[in-house]
Amino acid sequence: MKNADLIVYNIGRLHTCASPTPKRGDALRDLGTLTDAAIAIADEKIVAVGDSAEILATYQSPYILNARGNAVIPAFVDCHTHIVYGGDRAHEFEMRLAGASYMEIMAAGGGIVSTMRDTRTASPDELLMSAAHRANMMTQLGSTTIEVKTGYGLDVASELKMLHAIERLDEIQTCRFVPTFLGAHTLPPEYKDDPTSYVDLVITEMIPAVWEWYAQSRFAAQGTPFFIDVFCEDHAFDVEQSRRILEAGIAAGMQAKIHVDQFNSLGGLEMAIALGAISADHLEATVPADIPKLAASDTIAVLMPVVNFNLGLTTFADGRALIDAGAAVALATDMNPGSAPCFSMLLTMAIACRYMRLTPTEALNAATINAAHALGLGDQVGSIEVGKSADLILLNSPDYRNLSYLLGNDSIETLIRGDILFGRSDD
Ligand code: NIG
Ligand code: FE
Repeated sequence: MKNADLIVYNIGRLHTCASPTPKRGDALRDLGTLTDAAIAIADEKIVAVGDSAEILATYQSPYILNARGNAVIPAFVDCHTHIVYGGDRAHEFEMRLAGASYMEIMAAGGGIVSTMRDTRTASPDELLMSAAHRANMMTQLGSTTIEVKTGYGLDVASELKMLHAIERLDEIQTCRFVPTFLGAHTLPPEYKDDPTSYVDLVITEMIPAVWEWYAQSRFAAQGTPFFIDVFCEDHAFDVEQSRRILEAGIAAGMQAKIHVDQFNSLGGLEMAIALGAISADHLEATVPADIPKLAASDTIAVLMPVVNFNLGLTTFADGRALIDAGAAVALATDMNPGSAPCFSMLLTMAIACRYMRLTPTEALNAATINAAHALGLGDQVGSIEVGKSADLILLNSPDYRNLSYLLGNDSIETLIRGDILFGRSDD
């Protein structure tokens, strides 16, 4: 017999979501499902996946969990968040309920800049502890890989303070974090009338400084990639400014992401595709003519349905059209204090099905393997395959459609990351 640290057996349906490349088209409608299955885990990795009886005949373990016929899926990968920040924006929520729009609040000096002020004055410990609390909430809801962006510092020292918080999070939390530099989130007040100088500052000072941080960080040591992102939008950065910033990040060694077409389609999507961006995120305002261009590219469409739901808007990114055109679609919460105060990939999937017209199958692939590919981690997380990190969710039902069907986040029985993080551990 071979030894394992943990065996999960009697899995009614095991949805592997396996795919070496981002799923599109028919692959998005396939969950790579095995029936009456088991998984053996050793050293936090999956060492065997297959028929339940066969695995029980081959592996022994001090910990054996009976799934009792329920379904198992990969843990969620939340590939776009802003969970490190000071303060909150409850006052702006009330302003929006009274009729002000997100862009009006931003144009009047609130929004991202309001959180920037609270983030600049927060101590490193305050930033870390509030973000750790948010990460705990996300893990309770099944996410074990979480991307985190900077972008509330908007000066060299404060952006580095945010990156240090992300690194400390990775040290102390049970989930895995992926850092993204978003120095070009918006113009800080001191550069309000001089955008060119701020873009120059991002390129000549911030990018070299954050790359130096990354090169010494635990992320570089463990092979976790580092991304550069920019908010291409009115009152943020235009297409040319965004291009300059992304090109400088790519030249330094980062991979490009972009916040694009959130409220206005300025042409940033085509620019990002041409630069080979790993993902283009938002796409609420993408024009139909751009959908085939995105579909024909390797850039993954990251959709975040909680944003417009939270903003009380009734239009959403056209997930159905993107998938039908052949695009690789991923889902993320976009957790942030302004546009998406939401920890839950489950609620994200539920809204994506209802308002972006994804099927529950597509939503699950989009929240796991495609999200992993959007972080360059498709070979490590996001699916249940031998050699991958053992990040799994045992559902409390045999039917994975409950993930998107239920609106109460009531689908998870046990969360495993190498070991059981929470839930039932008896046989
Ligand atoms: O992805 N759109 C730009 N950035 C965030 C919002 C950040 C904020 O409002 O604090 C987003 O929606
Ligand atoms: Fe965002």
